[in-house]
Amino acid sequence: MVTMDNPAELLALAVSVARSASDLANRMRAAGVDAVATKSTATDVVTAADRAVEQLVRDELHKSRPGDAVLGEEYGGGQDQTAVRWILDPIDGTVNYLYDLPQYAVSLAAEVDGVVVAGVVRNAATGREWTATRGGGAFCGPRRLRASTETDLGQALVGTGFGYAAERRRHQARVLGGLIGHIRDIRRLGAASIDLCLVAEGTLDAYYEKGLNPWDHAAGGLVAAEAGALVTGLDGNPPGLDMVVAAPPSLHQPLHDLLSKLDAAGGP
Ligand code: IPD
Repeated sequence: MVTMDNPAELLALAVSVARSASDLANRMRAAGVDAVATKSTATDVVTAADRAVEQLVRDELHKSRPGDAVLGEEYGGGQDQTAVRWILDPIDGTVNYLYDLPQYAVSLAAEVDGVVVAGVVRNAATGREWTATRGGGAFCGPRRLRASTETDLGQALVGTGFGYAAERRRHQARVLGGLIGHIRDIRRLGAASIDLCLVAEGTLDAYYEKGLNPWDHAAGGLVAAEAGALVTGLDGNPPGLDMVVAAPPSLHQPLHDLLSKLDAAGGP
C-alpha cells in the first residue's frame, strides 16, 4: 500500500475536511448556540457544535486515513505512536462563536514524525481560509503571504489573548500593562489560530500569548512561519504552553526581550 504522507496530500485532505467542518459549525450557529458545559473555569465554555464538529472531523479523517492519530481540543487523544498525527481545534474562538462575533475558525494541522508539515485555518464565519505546507509557503486562498515589513516595535500592532483562569488573566494584564507603552496598540480578537494567520498576512505586525495548547497554534503557527515570521517561545524555548511569540525577524527580538523582561511566560 502506498501511504501518502507528503505535505501537499495531507493539506488537500485537511482543507476538504475543514470546509465540511466549517459548514457544520455555520449550520449549528444558524440554529442557535448555547454553552452546554464549562471546562477549566466558568467562562471556558464548550458548545454542542464544538463536539459535533470535532466528531465530524475525526470521522472524515478516519475514513481517508484510518491509521492516523488525532489530538483534538474536545476529545483529547493523539497519544498513539503513528507517523501522522492530526491536531484539531474544531472551533477556535468558542466565545466569539457563542456571541456570534465573526471570528472563529476550524484549525487543523498534520504532523509527520512530530513535525507540523501542513495546516489549514478556516474562519467559518467569513470563509477566509489560510493554508501552509512546510517549505511550501503560506497562502490565503491563492495569495502568497508575507509577514509585516514593520521594523519599529513602537509602530507595531500586536495581537494577544487571555486564558480562562482569573489569576492567569491578572498576570497577563500586568504584562500587557508593561508592554502597551512600547507598541502602537493591542488587539484581542479571540481566536489564536486566526491571530497567527493575521501575522502571516501582515494584518497584525506581531502576536504573543501565554497558555496556548497545540490545537490553538499548530496550524496557524505553520502559516505564520511560512510567511516569514519567527514563531518561538521565550529564552530559547519552542512555542508552547508557556509562550508563543510570532513576529517578523525585525520585530521578534525587541518584542521577545520585552516579554522576557516582563516575565510573560511566568506567573500562574
Ligand atoms: C481560545 C482562543 C483565544 C485565546 C485562548 C484560547 P478556544 O481558544 O484561541 O483567542 O486567547 O487562549 O484558549 O477556547 O476558543 O478554542
